[in-house]
Amino acid sequence: MGSSTKLLAAALLPALLMMMAFHAPTMAAAANPNLFRDYIGAIYNGVKFTDVPINPKVRFDFILAFVIDYTTATEPPSPTDGQFNIFWQNTVLTSSAVASIKRSNPNVRVAVSLGGATVNDRPVFFNITSVDSWVRNAVTSLTAIVTEYNLDGIDIDYEQFQADPDTFADCIGRLVTTMKSNGVIKFASIAPYDNADVQRHYQALWRKYGAVIDYINFQFYAYSASTTVAQYVNFFDNQIVNYPGGNILASFTTNRCDPKLRRQDSRDT
Ligand SMILES: *[C@@H]1O[C@H](CO)[C@@H](O)[C@H](O)[C@H]1NC(C)=O
Repeated sequence: MGSSTKLLAAALLPALLMMMAFHAPTMAAAANPNLFRDYIGAIYNGVKFTDVPINPKVRFDFILAFVIDYTTATEPPSPTDGQFNIFWQNTVLTSSAVASIKRSNPNVRVAVSLGGATVNDRPVFFNITSVDSWVRNAVTSLTAIVTEYNLDGIDIDYEQFQADPDTFADCIGRLVTTMKSNGVIKFASIAPYDNADVQRHYQALWRKYGAVIDYINFQFYAYSASTTVAQYVNFFDNQIVNYPGGNILASFTTNRCDPKLRRQDSRDT
């Protein structure tokens, strides 16, 4: 991966990233079809659930960012084969804060995102020992975290890979399938972006396990801030082709002033 990939990866950790889904005609009429999702907790700036305005008329998901199967007991941090640790600001976004925001807003669900771009400023890789051991460790460690914080779903946001697409697909697909059938989570999403290697991994996952993936949080916010409406629509149409049948969410960032979060115009895909 070139240096533009690193810049791009560093651009994917905003405190507040928002996504919206609009009414899809095929959805059941009973559930509210309007969905707004917000990543929170990754940059340790003290942001609280109650700082975010919550529209009562939409389904509203907070996504805690991140849990990572890395340990900081080594320097640099090293992969733990699916044993996830918490890397969101859980001194602020506590289990009682989760309970409280859900109690006062019945339309709120809270999920947690797996992976992310960096751990202590080093790249996070999807790196496993074996599919069986990774899935076993991931189910155990994530079930404990989801239960402790009373979470509702998971989001998959690995951005760099030291495993081939089929291995990634099998690990994530089996993880989501198991956690859903155990009743631990109710929904799962994936967060690919426009990079050839990233798309290869997530499209392999989609082809084999698309049936257990509820939303595609495509990182449209990772495109240049100068993207025009016509270009944006074109990018969106491309993802409809890449993830056939998927519930693809439009997305934007609220944090363009942070230079770390600015996307380079040159892309390596
Ligand atoms: C996975 O991570 C370990 C520890 O950092 C490293 O030694 C190994 O080379 C990585 N595996 C691959 C396939 O890159």
